[in-house]
Amino acid sequence: MQMSISRGIFVSYFALFLCVCVVYEPCVQAWSKEGHSMTCKIAQDLLGPEAKHAVQMLLPENVNGDLSALSVWPDQVRHWYKYRWTSPLHFIDTPDQACNFNYQRDCHDPHGVKGMCVAGAIQNFTNQLSHYRHGTSDRRYNMTEALLFLAHFMGDIHQPLHVGFTSDEGGNTIDLRWFRHKSNLHHVWDREIILTAAADYYGKDIDLLQEDIKGNFTDGIWSGDLASWRECSDIFSCVNKYAAESINMACKWGYKDVKSGDTLSDDYFNSRLPIVMKRIAQGGVRLAMILNRVFGDSKEDSLIAT
Ligand SMILES: *[C@@H]1O[C@H](CO)[C@@H](O)[C@H](O)[C@H]1NC(C)=O
Ligand SMILES: *[C@@H]1O[C@H](CO)[C@@H](O)[C@H](O)[C@H]1NC(C)=O
Ligand SMILES: *[C@@H]1O[C@H](CO)[C@@H](O)[C@H](O)[C@H]1NC(C)=O
Repeated sequence: MQMSISRGIFVSYFALFLCVCVVYEPCVQAWSKEGHSMTCKIAQDLLGPEAKHAVQMLLPENVNGDLSALSVWPDQVRHWYKYRWTSPLHFIDTPDQACNFNYQRDCHDPHGVKGMCVAGAIQNFTNQLSHYRHGTSDRRYNMTEALLFLAHFMGDIHQPLHVGFTSDEGGNTIDLRWFRHKSNLHHVWDREIILTAAADYYGKDIDLLQEDIKGNFTDGIWSGDLASWRECSDIFSCVNKYAAESINMACKWGYKDVKSGDTLSDDYFNSRLPIVMKRIAQGGVRLAMILNRVFGDSKEDSLIAT
């Protein structure tokens, strides 16, 4: 009797907990697994020997040294109790229509806790990883997790709609059609544009798409931009730059001429595709830059103020 009452109570609390989750945690996603995986693969190809070794050492054995295999791990765990605190770290909400980013104003969780946003998280995990090579890691921190979070959040901060307006949750509440099927503006930027490109131009082969992106920064349209993409004097100013670029693009390309109920098709796809491709490339190149610097492949100064 005693047992079944407490179980009943447990079950109702659990049901309540589920409802609260559903109401307050709409499915805010990140770059799709394709986007994250491309960012990680681009980055891993650009690692120097020290960073390559460190990444290999930090990854669990079952992925055979492939960072991209765990690129969406942070999305999978964000709803687990142990990792609930990481949920606000995937994005930034900026004031509606402001179209700019201000760290002091915008980087906080829904309760106002400072630093709990994607820009703060990248600094945090870069900082944690920077102790790895000197063997001064704080035992409270798990370096494997720091690497997985950093790799994922470098993708997220480059997805323009991850730095979006507050009231529409970065486009998540703007329901619309993508060609013939139902979607929302956030999801169009996370995934639809990538999948439509893969289907239309690469026979649905994401590896071919990724090779094309790589070709465009090694000796194609972006090859002259690489040095400026990599420029970074310290991690704080860099995350500020990445977030500002994203909200800028969100306004100029994401939200532009879009309202709930619209159908987006060829015009939108063709004009936005180059932006999505460039952001995936930039995320990968910059993730490699950070890893090369924290693990000692780069002669440049530390990214972290000491
Ligand atoms: C930094 O990471 C630690 C755990 O590794 C966490 O407790 C803290 O909340 C994080 N802060 C931010 C801003 O990500
Ligand atoms: C670090 O985190 C990974 C992934 O969550 C886990 O598998 C591993 O056991 C952790 N390592 C330590 C030393 O806690
Ligand atoms: C690479 O550049 C070419 C030439 O501008 C362009 O047609 C193509 O769409 C680009 N591919 C990607 C994936 O960015």
